[in-house]
Amino acid sequence: MNAVHTPSRDFLNRLQIFCAVILIAGTVSAARAQSPQPVTLKINADETTGSVSPRLYGLMTEEINYSYDGGLYGELVRNRTFKWSNEEPLYWHLIQENGGAGAMSLDINQPLNSALSTSLKLEITKASRREPVGVANDGFWGIPVRPNTKYRASFYARTDKKFSGPLEVSIVSTNGATVFATANIRGLGGDWKKYEVTLTTKDVPTSADNQLRITARHAGTVWFSCVSLFPPTYNNRPNGNRPDIMQLLADMNPKFLRFPGGNYVEGNTFATRFDWKKTIGPISQRPGHFDDAWHYWSTDGMGLLEFLEWCEDLHMEPVLAVYADYSMREGALTNELDFCVQEAMDELEYVTGDTTTKWGAMRARDGHPAPFKLNFVEIGNEDNLGTGGRTYDLRFTKFYDAIKAKYPNIQVISTATSRSRILRTRTPDVYDDHFYNSSMQMQSDSHHYDDYDRNGPKIFVGEWATREGSPTPNMNAALGDAAWMTGMERNSDIVIMASYAPLFVNVNPGGMQWRTDLIGYNTLTSYGSPSYYAQKMFNLNHGDAILPVDAENIPTREWQAPARRGGATPPSRQVPFIFYDATRDTSSGVIYLKVVNTGGDERTVHIQIDGNVKISPNGESVAMSAGTPDATDSIAEPNKIIPITTQVAGLGNDFTRTFPPYSITVLRLMAGAPAAPLTKTDRKPVETFESATPPPAAAPAQPQAAASSATGLKVVHVDSEETVGEDGKGANAVDGDPQTFWHTQWQDATPEPPHEIVIELPATESIKGFTYLPRQDDVDNGTIKDYEFSVSTDGTNFGEPVAKGSFQNSKEKKTVTFTPVTCRFVKLKALSEVNGGAWTSAAEIGVIPAN
Ligand code: AHR
Repeated sequence: MNAVHTPSRDFLNRLQIFCAVILIAGTVSAARAQSPQPVTLKINADETTGSVSPRLYGLMTEEINYSYDGGLYGELVRNRTFKWSNEEPLYWHLIQENGGAGAMSLDINQPLNSALSTSLKLEITKASRREPVGVANDGFWGIPVRPNTKYRASFYARTDKKFSGPLEVSIVSTNGATVFATANIRGLGGDWKKYEVTLTTKDVPTSADNQLRITARHAGTVWFSCVSLFPPTYNNRPNGNRPDIMQLLADMNPKFLRFPGGNYVEGNTFATRFDWKKTIGPISQRPGHFDDAWHYWSTDGMGLLEFLEWCEDLHMEPVLAVYADYSMREGALTNELDFCVQEAMDELEYVTGDTTTKWGAMRARDGHPAPFKLNFVEIGNEDNLGTGGRTYDLRFTKFYDAIKAKYPNIQVISTATSRSRILRTRTPDVYDDHFYNSSMQMQSDSHHYDDYDRNGPKIFVGEWATREGSPTPNMNAALGDAAWMTGMERNSDIVIMASYAPLFVNVNPGGMQWRTDLIGYNTLTSYGSPSYYAQKMFNLNHGDAILPVDAENIPTREWQAPARRGGATPPSRQVPFIFYDATRDTSSGVIYLKVVNTGGDERTVHIQIDGNVKISPNGESVAMSAGTPDATDSIAEPNKIIPITTQVAGLGNDFTRTFPPYSITVLRLMAGAPAAPLTKTDRKPVETFESATPPPAAAPAQPQAAASSATGLKVVHVDSEETVGEDGKGANAVDGDPQTFWHTQWQDATPEPPHEIVIELPATESIKGFTYLPRQDDVDNGTIKDYEFSVSTDGTNFGEPVAKGSFQNSKEKKTVTFTPVTCRFVKLKALSEVNGGAWTSAAEIGVIPAN
């Protein structure tokens, strides 16, 4: 007998309690609703609803927030190939000491090779032993100096005939006062040649405010290319990764790595995609590319082989995303489809082919003769967004057929989501679904996959995060994450893989493009966020069999979900305070019970374990909690919120346990290995709750400016719109419904303002102003700050703006008036956004007739 309350009975109970409390107290927050009955979780240890996916928890990565350059990738020199800017050698400085003199410039006439076509020219006009002249690099927010550490410096150089004498390579404090390590390089000449030297620090204090300097004490000209400095790397790999960040990842025991994106795989244009063939071979032959998805230069030092070696180092399975002939701004290039499919096939051969194959041999040339095992390939990234959905069916089919013909065992992942219904011609093996939500949204959606079709494609939740906290998530985010993970784990017969995104953020000023990132770091140290630890807790503590859990009397709070973009406000929902799931390791017998208490009150839970099992009174608890939901970890306090493992007594087949406020707990319940295989049973959907409060009445339409009725205006142009499919085109800004709004595309955060919307009036008329209502939901981006408003009679010739100004950040309707003008078309141009973001939105735009 299933002990789960039926929603309707539970609803009636709650309604009675709710009404009674209102009668007595007059007013009560539904958010404090308490359950009078003991909260009970009943687990059957002999039954299973399915298997836990062995590769459930993994990582997703791309070049965002200085994830590789300035992050995981060990390179310490910023702009090592001088290609970041065509104008100037960014992050490089000229050193002229004690009267020495020289000049530094970019030179495209002395290329090292076709990949590194720009070199740095140092012209030394005056130098001597006491007057060194040279160049210095600031690194990524400094160069980390540690005691007794070996650094590998290398560069290519050539000189003119005049230059004689060595170069001095040193790691020096930025103020020049302390030289931590130095070495001389001799024998330079007229031809490009690579020079390498090891720099070893003494017993010096750790510091970051340092530079790499290359100086000379003789006049003449020197050209540099590919200047590199590497500290010790994880597993001592040449061109390898930062050990502290790798260790954080290793501690999570991730099962796979989805790479190389994300928006980064697509770029904004075909030319700025992740062009894998340009990311292999010696770093001196990698041109690098501008990461226009996230606005900085990528050396591609973290190239295809480095991603694969990263997988190898951490025993992760590669999940390779191939470029699918779609870039975010440029869209799909029909002429390039066959080329892109072939590029992907070559890529698969580079990864998996033996050395008798063309691309397998290239991999061997690059230092890795052994092929990699590849089970999963994803076609593109988020192709249900932008205009991707128009062509994805065609593109997916081409890739799918080519891959399956040669690699029938590779699982092909659709990046258009399971709900997008874009794919009609082929059925993918797996759908990649993405979720970026608030904590309450994640909690209220934790049963997302409970009813998902078990007979269709599997699910990869390839990007997900509770986005609360910046740069890294706070405890409230971790609670949302944990609630969400109980849902994924309970459904991991169908949710076979999941990876949080983004993974990394460099917390230095200017390092972040996307807030709420799992792991933060600066030049010297790194830390895991509460969400990092929540993931670690889940991944290190689960069995292979999902156990059925019945729940009783789970307390809830009422929550009003925000309106979806462009949609009406949904009914409010009851969201539980307690989330849970149980799994069992069928070899050891251990039962892992996870309990998440998202509320500010401690909760006592009665736990019963049925079946042919004897639970030891002694077990273990791994628990993480915080005093307030906004508490978090940081560079300054990396261990403020971390899980604590303790031995616990008083467990058994029937016990109670109190879970602290704002806590995530895993109980390891010791039971012997099951005597017989667990019996397969039906899944038990978790209790869902109806609202005790009727859905809010539709919000009254804002009064429109006279004569511009909601239906009278027509949007004829928007420069950017966030669309799923092909709806909208800005119509939400003139539909008279303040809950729906026009929003410019935001996924790549790259359509920088200005943004514009052009609206046609029902007839040519005289107007004396306009109104602007910002989006009304609780999201605080998109409000226009600096604007220009102009008018036209023919829709193409807009003269000087009739009004310019700056709006304040509030949800209030703004009204702007001007001297009456006659027009048929109006254009509102957003020059900036109140949060400095790339977005613009408008719930309603109206015009004010002159008469
Ligand atoms: O994770 C940040 C971005 O979110 C990814 O690049 C993209 O796939 C998604 O829109």
